[in-house]
Amino acid sequence: MKNIMVTGGAGFIGSNFVRYMLSKYDDINIVVYDKLTYAGNLDNLEDVSQDMRYKFVRGDIADRNAVAGVLAANRVDAVVNFAAESHVDRSILDPDAFIKTDVMGVYVLLDECRKHRVDRFLQVSTDEVYGTIEEGFFKEGDPLEPNSPYSASKAGGELLVRSYHVTYGMDAVITRGSNTFGPYQYPEKLLPLFITNAIDDQPLPLYGDGMQVRDWLYVEDHCSGIDLVLHKGKAGEAYNLGGENERHNIDVIKQMLAVLGKPESLITLVVDRPGHDRRYALDNAKLHALGWEHSRTFDKALEQTVSWYVENEWWWRKIKSGEFREYYERQYGSRLK
Ligand code: NAD
Ligand code: TYD
Repeated sequence: MKNIMVTGGAGFIGSNFVRYMLSKYDDINIVVYDKLTYAGNLDNLEDVSQDMRYKFVRGDIADRNAVAGVLAANRVDAVVNFAAESHVDRSILDPDAFIKTDVMGVYVLLDECRKHRVDRFLQVSTDEVYGTIEEGFFKEGDPLEPNSPYSASKAGGELLVRSYHVTYGMDAVITRGSNTFGPYQYPEKLLPLFITNAIDDQPLPLYGDGMQVRDWLYVEDHCSGIDLVLHKGKAGEAYNLGGENERHNIDVIKQMLAVLGKPESLITLVVDRPGHDRRYALDNAKLHALGWEHSRTFDKALEQTVSWYVENEWWWRKIKSGEFREYYERQYGSRLK
């Protein structure tokens, strides 16, 4: 696999993946294909922009002609698809774009990859496709019971990937990552929103009782897991990719505040998210069998993440003053009144 197309590569995990791959492999070319929605940001890729092995093309994965053009022009061997509408709260406010990108977009991308005989397709999916689990851990063969328009659209995308493998013999693999955190995460998700709000001494709107459980995965470990499945995963298979760091939301936030040296009084319990999944937890045995391990502890990863946002205000202040303000008002205005 020499020429890799990274769709959605200007977003949070995608841009970290591009950086990870360029530093790990010498003989690789990466073409990032990204629509640059509100979440796509070329600042995320600024530090690789001069690398001769990297190229950026703006476009939509649902645009068949454009996708075909990029696949042909770059002799793409493998596609890693990060492109998605990715935020649960936005999917509740307005599901439309989720169906267009996470379902229709995946279909168009898959279909063009089949026609262009791309050697391997990796679909970046999520643990949220399983729905919620009170006890125990989801295994890859468990039923998909998604509960939000976001997770339902991601499940739809995955099922199309599966069908292209079974029906057309396409070489495709799926990863199901858990809640990811680290540098360059759009500040609508829990950790970057709360870190940047706390830096500014603004309230931290915690949903419901704050006792929901998420399994926190450092972004570099998410990238190494995807790389491993891309190279060693078995065609037609899905792989859980969990952080093995289960925490109640309120505990994650208290720990973050301690690192930042800000008071817990910033935490403000607000009206819950509708359909809020109580707990996500994954059994990662299948991925470990391929040789995957974490690179650092949760405590270390959280410290590094907090420091990154403290040191990189240039990156997030721009975002928070733009489109974001309107969204924040819509999502939190009445909750915080
Ligand atoms: P993100 O929102 O930061 O980035 C998404 C990127 O996709 C953006 O650059 C955006 O411009 C691009 N995009 C959106 N629609 C597009 C379209 N139609 N065509 C081309 N590009 C388009 O998301 P993220 O947090 O980096 O997540 C990346 C992937 O990982 C998603 O598929 C998401 O479902 C999955 N995932 C995320 C997490 C998490 O915790 N963030 C966990 C598991 C899985
Ligand atoms: P989020 O980062 O949106 O990821 P996901 O919904 O995909 O798990 O949220 C993580 C957890 O934090 C989830 O249980 C919802 C909760 N949360 C809040 O309590 N307040 C917030 O403002 C946000 C964005 C999330």
